[in-house]
Amino acid sequence: TNLSQTSMGAREGFGTTLGVIAATLGSAVGLGNIWKFPYITGENGGAAFILVYLLFACLIGLPVMISEFIMGRRSNAASVGAFKKLAPGTPWFLTGISGVLVAFLIMSYYTSVAGWVFAYIFKSMGGGLLTTDPKVSEQVFNSFITGTWSPLFWQWLVIIVTGAIILAGVKNGIERMTKTLLPILFLLLIICVIRAVTLPGASEGIAFLMKPDFSKITSATILAAMGLAFFKLSVGMGVMTTYGSYIGKNESLFGTAVKVMLADICVSLLAGLAIFPAVFAFGFSPAQGPKLLFMTIPMVFSSMPMGSFFLTIFFILASVAATGAMISLYNVPVAYLTEEVGCSRKVATVIIGLLMALVGSTATLSNNLLANFKVFGLTMFDFYGYITDNIMMPITGLIIALFVAWRMSKYEVADELSNGGSLNNGGFVRFYLVVVRFVAPVAIIVVLLNGLGFIKF
Ligand code: PFF
Repeated sequence: TNLSQTSMGAREGFGTTLGVIAATLGSAVGLGNIWKFPYITGENGGAAFILVYLLFACLIGLPVMISEFIMGRRSNAASVGAFKKLAPGTPWFLTGISGVLVAFLIMSYYTSVAGWVFAYIFKSMGGGLLTTDPKVSEQVFNSFITGTWSPLFWQWLVIIVTGAIILAGVKNGIERMTKTLLPILFLLLIICVIRAVTLPGASEGIAFLMKPDFSKITSATILAAMGLAFFKLSVGMGVMTTYGSYIGKNESLFGTAVKVMLADICVSLLAGLAIFPAVFAFGFSPAQGPKLLFMTIPMVFSSMPMGSFFLTIFFILASVAATGAMISLYNVPVAYLTEEVGCSRKVATVIIGLLMALVGSTATLSNNLLANFKVFGLTMFDFYGYITDNIMMPITGLIIALFVAWRMSKYEVADELSNGGSLNNGGFVRFYLVVVRFVAPVAIIVVLLNGLGFIKF
């Protein structure tokens, strides 16, 4: 399939089936798997939370992802343009604009964490991270992130690197890198898991992940699980609309989405299995928050031969995974400026990069100068994460689902899902329609209102 010469002009397509999945996975797999999934699971009590998360991934994340694919491939446009093409002259396109804002806000703190990961590549090379003493591990991390210039430097570097890849174009930048490096990340995680589960005292950590304690489930945990489902699959901001517009006419949208979701879940669970046995084996609390990854992983590697070497590789791969996700995020506001405002790609990339560095610095400085500056009781870092995961993505995702379910015609939706009838999957199409019309919207609304305390069960 070659979508390069389409009505949109300079839109590049993905070369192959594997390319589509690799690129979409490149957006989904990232710090969400190795950083956010473990720390949120740790804060919310383990196995029971994971079950709720898996339920939402299937019930909400997957149908919203398919909806975004439908919009993107049907319109052959990025998020805002997709609404404008499919529903000309209506205010639906504002949903696309809210997606642009969400992507921007996620980048503001995501680049901060990615900066920590980039920096940890170099710290691991020196061997200074290898310790089996949790106090030392924590101290090393804290003294790094509470600095002023060093974390800012790494964050800005991350923004520059990602911007440079964006300028190099879709095919060269994303497809090639993810296709080769994601499998290596997978392998390395498996090595970590083997080491972690054989540590003395690992069983408590395994039980934490496998034995659900439903008393840990509250309305706030349920909301967090839903937020994670959106964040993990990169849905609820139009990223997947853009990717859908690159998907060839012969690919199955449903098949692509399911494969991406399953692979993504595997990576998260592996990361959990690498981290929690170590958390318990080394005797610290699972509810460490955002520093969990940075404290535990070095300790896992310090108990194996060639620890510094593997630890360095781990953070290199983590940086690559984070970069794949950031490319897709960065691309949302850039696509908006180029396709809707008419900026050149270069100008758009630079403007967005500068704005991201500015706003993102407020997240990074939450550990330092802005530690006491709170919005609704949250530091800027936590605030960006909270409003995007728990409010903006659910609402934007809800509207995307409603748009595809009720505003697009049944015929159009069926046509996209079945590739013009050639997939012969009428039963599935009807099932999807029920989920996206009723089940997912009701679930999103109930979880949102309940989690925010507007209604109580
Ligand atoms: N899914 C990515 C992760 O889990 O790291 C984060 C992400 C990327 C969220 C792209 C949203 C997005 F649009």
